[in-house]
Amino acid sequence: MRDTYYITTPIYYVNDLPHIGHIYTTVMADIFARYHRMAGRDVRFLTGTDEHGQKIERAAATQGIRPIELADRVVARYHHLWEQLEISHDDFIRTTEPRHQRGVTEIIRRIQAKGDIYKGEYSGWYCAGCEAFFPETQLVEGRCPDQGHPVELLSEPSYFFRLSAYQEGLLEWYRDNPGCVEPRSRYNEVLRFVEGGLRDLSISRRSLSWGIPFPGDEDHVVYVWLDALTNYLSALGFGSADDTLFHRYWPAQLHLVGKDILRFHCVYWPAFLMSAGLPLPEKVFGHGWWMRDEAKMSKSLGNVVRPDHLLERFGPDALRYFLAREMAFGQDATFSDEAFLERYNADLANNLGNTTSRTLSMTHRYLEGRVPAPGGGGQVAAAAGQATAAYLGAMDRLEPHRALEAVWQLLAAINGFIQESQPWALAKAGARSQDHLEEVLGTSLEGLRIVTLMIAPFMPGVALRLESQLGVPEPRHELSRELAWDAGQRGRKLGENQPLFPRVDIKAYLEEVSMEAEKQQESKPAETPAKESTIGIDEFARIQLKVGTVREAEMIPKSKKLLRLMVDLGEDELRQVVAGIAERYDPEELLGRRIVIVANLEPARLMGVESRGMILAATDADGHPFILSPDGDVPPGSEVR
Ligand code: MSP
Repeated sequence: MRDTYYITTPIYYVNDLPHIGHIYTTVMADIFARYHRMAGRDVRFLTGTDEHGQKIERAAATQGIRPIELADRVVARYHHLWEQLEISHDDFIRTTEPRHQRGVTEIIRRIQAKGDIYKGEYSGWYCAGCEAFFPETQLVEGRCPDQGHPVELLSEPSYFFRLSAYQEGLLEWYRDNPGCVEPRSRYNEVLRFVEGGLRDLSISRRSLSWGIPFPGDEDHVVYVWLDALTNYLSALGFGSADDTLFHRYWPAQLHLVGKDILRFHCVYWPAFLMSAGLPLPEKVFGHGWWMRDEAKMSKSLGNVVRPDHLLERFGPDALRYFLAREMAFGQDATFSDEAFLERYNADLANNLGNTTSRTLSMTHRYLEGRVPAPGGGGQVAAAAGQATAAYLGAMDRLEPHRALEAVWQLLAAINGFIQESQPWALAKAGARSQDHLEEVLGTSLEGLRIVTLMIAPFMPGVALRLESQLGVPEPRHELSRELAWDAGQRGRKLGENQPLFPRVDIKAYLEEVSMEAEKQQESKPAETPAKESTIGIDEFARIQLKVGTVREAEMIPKSKKLLRLMVDLGEDELRQVVAGIAERYDPEELLGRRIVIVANLEPARLMGVESRGMILAATDADGHPFILSPDGDVPPGSEVR
């Protein structure tokens, strides 16, 4: 029997449309799924949606629809998006499906039979945004520590899971399986967290109705994380009459998740499984975040990048490549159009596109499209040997960005070889150089065949098109056989030569995008009537401008621009404000300084720090900020009109 490889993505909440952060997890899982299929494993790749809980219930209520209607809409978007991105999942689970409810009921039955569930009273600070309770000690300025959402104190009867009983079991699991949580830094975090002690976990909610009824007590619904995590089992038929898939694929080889949900996967999930007497997953990998403007891309911060435009303009492969190459797997990275376009032009249009198109067109021109034998391959064969070994090692170590680096090294070697051997000069020299010409082109084409095979998990569409141009008949994508030098079929004819990645004029593209954004803005129905560029005095009066005195100022760690200020607004009010002025002002020189702030601005979080107001500053042509101060000794709290 072949090795099985069960890989999962988190299941996505349906209160939001997918953005680059969500796409990333699924694209990476798809790359590994495809890679392991090519390596000959029996792969099962699961993704899906997390549809229960307060967050969804509230989002649906604000749109005036039922939760399931909201879920259906968003699920349709996910299906469409996965199709556009050529995601090759074998199954898509929705937590509102009956098969999922059966799985959840079964796991709770087992946990109950083990004696790990008891009834108690839960009271805690609940963050509806994160669907999680936080102990008081973890709150940051009275808000949830993860996203800065407001929290509410809840108290209600609840069923509890004896998580505390699994502290030792978990520690043992981590110690005996050092690869069970990756990257290493996250493994250490999880270990430290569990060593700090575990409290029992509330696993039911009475305050909520949009969820799976708690078996045996239908006044409660199952806590959304126990519900959600069980998808990995229920999708395999666990708890259903036919559980063949469960026996074949469980335990999972890889749960791929973002680092924000690592704890749920590395602490709660294995504890539930241990209690239910089920084997534990082999590995949970917590990848980093896509950031924008120095903060995690997320709906609540309103800084998300939607994939639609990039996909429409550049197709799925360029986006997949960028996501896999730009982010060191496990670390954070910043998403920008500029970075995308630069990689597109340099790596795809230039290195990959030009190397293939020049080799193919020379073969068409000089050899009428006949693919010559590659011979021993010399330096290119050696580079291919090194690249394939590095590639396989990197993919197995979950370092896809390094795997791509290895492929691009081979491309560079092929390019260098062509440059050195000058096939165009050999062609000119006529018959006496014919053998040499054939060897050079044969060698280059063989190198490119191997490149194409290695990029197939990353850019499946492009790989197929390239293979047809290279004349590879019915590509099978079997790594162990096809990665070898000279494994290509003899006597092939090239297919038609088509450009794969037309170069982009970055400046023109960025202008086009910003004009489009402006147009969209203009075509939005005006929120203020008629005179667009003026506002009435009443409208201005709604803005509260106040004089304040800076009492404290400090840099916000890891930020180059942001300062945290405590501003005295009179009447004993000290207000925390975050200001992007650090490039021009040292914190010390601001102390005691009079400034003007917008005092009734909606609070926002910047780099995790709450800002309740905004400092007024003028900007010069280079964008440098100049703080505004009153021209005289006005007491803090004075109104500005
Ligand atoms: N529903 C839960 C998961 C339950 S799994 C049993 C959830 N859903 S989510 O929709 O909020 O997030 C799903 C995935 O998207 C997570 O892996 C999360 O880390 C990832 N991302 C969301 N925003 C992200 C970035 N800005 N960057 C990278 N990935 C991030 O959590």
